[in-house]
Parts: sequence; structure tokens; C-alpha cells
Amino acid sequence: MVRFEDVAAQYGRGPEVLTGLTFELAPGSFHFLTGPSGAGKSTLLRLLYLALRPIRGTIELFERDVARIARRELPALRRRIGVVFQDFRLIGHLSTLDNVALPLRVAGAKEGQVRNHVAELLAWVGLADHLEDLPSTLSGGQQQRVAIARAVIGRPSLLLADEPTGNVDDRIAMRLMYLFEELNKMGTTVLIATHNDGLVARFPHPQLHLEDGRLYRVPGRPRAAKVRANG
Ligand SMILES: Nc1ncnc2c1ncn2[C@@H]1O[C@H](COP(=O)(O)OP(=O)(O)OP(=O)(O)O)[C@@H](O)[C@H]1O
Ligand SMILES: [Mg+2]
Repeated sequence: MVRFEDVAAQYGRGPEVLTGLTFELAPGSFHFLTGPSGAGKSTLLRLLYLALRPIRGTIELFERDVARIARRELPALRRRIGVVFQDFRLIGHLSTLDNVALPLRVAGAKEGQVRNHVAELLAWVGLADHLEDLPSTLSGGQQQRVAIARAVIGRPSLLLADEPTGNVDDRIAMRLMYLFEELNKMGTTVLIATHNDGLVARFPHPQLHLEDGRLYRVPGRPRAAKVRANG
């Protein structure tokens, strides 16, 4: 699904913010991307989303060498990726419903199905009463949930989420994590950047940990065995 080989990244003529990154994400895997503020989590996601080109190394995405992909091919590739940006990037003049419907409409879904499907997902993330609201009238946590709904609505092959629970309380954070896990069970490869150690500790998923520009793998834990009720 994703393969990095000795990748380095830099902004302009600044220092290298990521160096010698080598890792793979297997199809259908679920990873946390951890590390202190400024460690390069958002930068790594930008590389994956093809918003930033590496200065060295090879990135493969969906079995394609990203460096060899023509600009005109990017939109089709990006449609397979759902992204929750750290700063949400909602479209200001579109309602909650229309923001979330966008990926479905771009993909040519039938309008009759779009509304129901979107409304159902928005109800699940607790926004049933805000379907017609503009982003500017929503709280930070509500905007974040709109951004998440928009990223998952099209069941992308790859979901990249940058600090997706940074603005919501614990109860909603768990609900959103459940949404990501459901998507993952349906086959989506998931990568979630967060510095919420508490959240990470509650799930068994492996981590890619960034520190001082380098990447460390932290293996996942086995899922706790279910206790059987009758022997
Ligand atoms: N657009 C930019 N131009 C120049 N430098 C940048 C830019 N974006 C990020 N950086 C630098 O790259 C490094 C990594 O930043 P990045 O945003 O990837 O960190 P992060 O792990 O996502 O942090 P946070 O947890 O605070 O979101 C930082 O030193 C930052 O200053
Ligand atoms: Mg960041």
C-alpha cells in the first residue's frame, strides 16, 4: 500500500525535517503516527498525500512510484486517499452536508443516495442538528468532525488523519476511533497522527514514532482475549 525507502524531506532551504525514513504500511493495516510537536508527523502525511515531494528516496503508493507520477494523474490518486487535515480545510461557503457530500459528488454518486448517506454519517458523529450550518458557525470540535466525515464518506483505500481527535472530548474521541476502526475492518489502511498518548495506549495498534527526524517502529500489542461467558 505504502512503501518509503530512505526518504528525506525539507522545506525550502531549511534543515532536513525527516531523514532516512524507511517503512511499509501493509494493505489493511492500522498505525498510529506519534512523536512530539514539531517531530514531522504532518510533514510525513504531506509526503503521503503528495502535497510535498521528498528531496531524496523513494515513495511508493498503491504500487506506483510517486516520483514518476505525472501531475495530471494526481487527482485520481488522491481520490483514493481520505485526509483529515490538522486545520480541517473545510470549504467555507458550503454547508456541513455539502462539505461531506463533496467526495461522493465528485465520484459521480447518485444524488438521491448522497443525502441519506451523508446525513446518516453526520448523525453518527453527533452533527444531525447542524446539516445546513456553515463551517464558520461551528465549534472547533464540530468542524473537526465534519472534516472526518468528509474523509471517510467515500471509503478511501488509505485514510490519513492528522490529530483527528485534538479538539473533542474523550467520549467523542472514542466514537471517532470506533469509526476509524470500522473503516479499517472494511479494508481501508489507516494512519493516524496524534500526540495523545492516552488515546494511543487504549488501542493495540502499532506505532510509527518520529523523533529528531528519524522513525522508530513500536510494535502493536495483541488484542486482549475476549472472556468467554460459559467456559
Ligand atoms: N510550511 C513549512 N515551512 C517551513 N518549515 C515547516 C513547515 N511546516 C513544518 N515545518 C517544520 O518542519 C518540522 C516538522 O513540522 P510538522 O508540522 O511536520 O510537525 P508535527 O509533528 O506535525 O507537529 P505537531 O504535533 O505540532 O502538529 C518543524 O520543525 C516545523 O517547524
Ligand atoms: Mg502536525
